[in-house]
Amino acid sequence: IFDDPGGLAKQAARQVRTLIEAKQAAGDIAVLGLPTGSTPIGVYQELIRMHREEGLDFSSVVTFNLDEYVPMAPDSLQSYHRFMRENFFDHVNVPEENIHIPRGDLPEREIETHAAEYERLIQRAGGIDLMLLGIGRSGHIGFNEPGSTPDDRTRLIVLDEITRKDAASDFFEEKYVPREAITMGVGTILDAREVILIATGEHKAPIVRQAVEEEPNAQVSATYLQLHNNATFYVDRAAASELT
Ligand code: F6R
Repeated sequence: IFDDPGGLAKQAARQVRTLIEAKQAAGDIAVLGLPTGSTPIGVYQELIRMHREEGLDFSSVVTFNLDEYVPMAPDSLQSYHRFMRENFFDHVNVPEENIHIPRGDLPEREIETHAAEYERLIQRAGGIDLMLLGIGRSGHIGFNEPGSTPDDRTRLIVLDEITRKDAASDFFEEKYVPREAITMGVGTILDAREVILIATGEHKAPIVRQAVEEEPNAQVSATYLQLHNNATFYVDRAAASELT
């Protein structure tokens, strides 16, 4: 539990740096799983600062983003491809060919093949070393909405009502929020060697309490992180305020 979101972002960024530097020292690549949304922006800013001011080198980093809306053109204002470029990739030196983000611009019949290929690419990279996550008010990690289970892999999913409401301001009105998304599955996430979930703000307090204190269950997919042997929640005081 951190006093403020700034301290949380710095610590999460330090964890990422520690991994990257340890892997570099071993002559190995670091494979990161990455989220979008408002919560990780501070982490990305701190990593960019480390790159600019302290020479943190991302040339041996491989990244896999969690999700993307469907349908979504990569250059659209709300696209997670665009979000990642603007908030992170344009400012650090991750090689273009090392960046992976699920595609939201494929015809529906091609999504299943693309999702299976995404899983294969993660495997081929040696699996995810460190998975950074946010949490939605529906309990989702990635876009694993209620009903998701640890057997799920990367796939197309229908977005929950709460998720579409929370995204409404990005799309001007709720009716413009896409109904579907492509997301890594709970199983894909649980396969990562380390997981850090970050949550800030009072509005996340009820779902953080459920995620941590309820038994693992399909209604709140974040509860499945309790099954992981190296998963940590980084929360600020506001998001921790309902923990008992
Ligand atoms: C986004 C993602 C989602 C978000 C979650 C929280 O790639 O996977 O699970 O992390 O919806 O979003 P924010 O941080 O905007 O509250």
